[in-house]
Amino acid sequence: MKTEVLHALQQFSPIPLNENMLERPVHAHMGDLALPCFPFAKNLRKSPVSIADEIAKSIKHPLIHKAEAVNGYVNIFLNRSQITSSLLQTIQEQSRSYGSSNIGKNGVVTIDMSSPNIAKPFSMGHLRSTVIGNSISLLLEKNGYKTVKINYIGDWGTQFGKLLTAYQQCGNELEVRQAPIQTLLKLYIQFHEKAEQDDSLNDQGRAAFKALEDGNPEALALWDWFKSESLKEFQRIYDLLGVKFDSYNGEAYYNDKMEPIVDMLNEKGLLKESDGALVVELGDDMPPCLIKKSDGATLYATRDLTAAIDRKKNYDFVKSIYVVGNEQSLHFTQFKKVLEKMDYEWSKDIQHVPFGLILKDGKKMSTRKGKIVLLEEVLKDAISLAQSTIEAKNPNLENKMEIAETIGVGAIIFSDLKQHRKHDIEFDLETMLQTEGETGPYVQYTFARANSVLRKSGETSSYTVNKVNDFEWEIVKSLEQFPQIIQHSAKELDPSIIAKYAVDLAQAFNSFYGNIHVLTDSKNKPYRIALIRSTTIILKEALRLLGMKAPEEM
Ligand code: ARG
Repeated sequence: MKTEVLHALQQFSPIPLNENMLERPVHAHMGDLALPCFPFAKNLRKSPVSIADEIAKSIKHPLIHKAEAVNGYVNIFLNRSQITSSLLQTIQEQSRSYGSSNIGKNGVVTIDMSSPNIAKPFSMGHLRSTVIGNSISLLLEKNGYKTVKINYIGDWGTQFGKLLTAYQQCGNELEVRQAPIQTLLKLYIQFHEKAEQDDSLNDQGRAAFKALEDGNPEALALWDWFKSESLKEFQRIYDLLGVKFDSYNGEAYYNDKMEPIVDMLNEKGLLKESDGALVVELGDDMPPCLIKKSDGATLYATRDLTAAIDRKKNYDFVKSIYVVGNEQSLHFTQFKKVLEKMDYEWSKDIQHVPFGLILKDGKKMSTRKGKIVLLEEVLKDAISLAQSTIEAKNPNLENKMEIAETIGVGAIIFSDLKQHRKHDIEFDLETMLQTEGETGPYVQYTFARANSVLRKSGETSSYTVNKVNDFEWEIVKSLEQFPQIIQHSAKELDPSIIAKYAVDLAQAFNSFYGNIHVLTDSKNKPYRIALIRSTTIILKEALRLLGMKAPEEM
């Protein structure tokens, strides 16, 4: 609409205009759009006030109801019924695809996301990566990109030698089967305690990892078992969150693919020896990137380099993003720099998408010795809280369990996404589950409420838009902005823009709902039903883009 209005205005403006010049006034009495004329005064050698006067006087256009010149601004009031009627038609015709674009032109974006470490609990950080990565993927798809979601499992490294040793010495198969991650974590912690007394254990651990690297069948079989037990546990979380991946190639996958990369670094003269280790020096403002330890073992960075090169070969991405916590920023700057030094022109397409911590009472929620926050339990707590709300408010609801899951999980996802990802967020189940305020349940509840009006309205026929009141106009303006919101949030890789938008639209709908009797005013009913139907389409789509479900009843 901004673009159309701009075209319209252009005919009456003495200077070329662009979209950034048009503002959206905060107060409705100042119009729907405003053109400040101050920047033109110098060129035209006229006062902003008289420029505004001239433009306002001459404007005549079907989209524009009236234009007022006020203190150097042209305040534009749009033709509400015309805009509303064409917008509602568009939304109902395009339905779910309203707001889609082909900006991505089918280019591939790989998204490295979630990536938990086996035999360790799925942490709050991994939750953020999963939820943010998933929403970014949905946003990019909506804008015409192809995405590849890669779960780069942390399944390799010297720690697994230690775990194998610990298991061989005091592990119990049944215990692992019953509670894999808890048991393996306990073994790992015990190993560390014992190794503090007895250093020879560390040697045994190293030897066990060497055996694993060399493909010793017994070591491999155990490692494989730990991995599949861990993945089974992670899968339950992914099922609850409704997240799927296109690849599970983790660190171990690159075990036998690193040598050629190390050779290449060597041939390009980039490897330097430093205390027996091999590093790539990155200049004065960055520590060198470690490629091989003195005992010949490869590192996290070696595997990431190899994986990046492999992904470029496999997927020919236009962009490769890594949704990983702030604390790994240096790692990503370093390995991107190494790729640049290797003359990979595409290294510029590598992007770390960092995020902050989840805090509980201001402190990091993390894995402490012995006492761990199990994410699956957190999710289940959220679901049972949602369940008790349903029992209290709507005990006759069908599919209570399914809806409790939709609300509980949705609440967690929404509270994660509603703030810019770089911020730390405070984790409070009670707050995020409230049906008032900026919460997932609030948006879902609004969606359900709108649907209930639609259910009660019965069949509605064709409609004409006569007069659009202020409540309705707020909804229309919001619906109209959806395509720009989608493009903006995809460009910024920022789901919080969508989350805030969903709250705004829900608020506009709720003031309308609280003030207008839709079902009793038969003259306006058909048009209003179309407005409500359009609102449900967009609310559902906004929630979908966040990775949430929209319950028709709750
Ligand atoms: N497994 C790592 C961790 O838990 C995250 C991996 C992130 N992805 C990557 N390509 N380095 O810290």
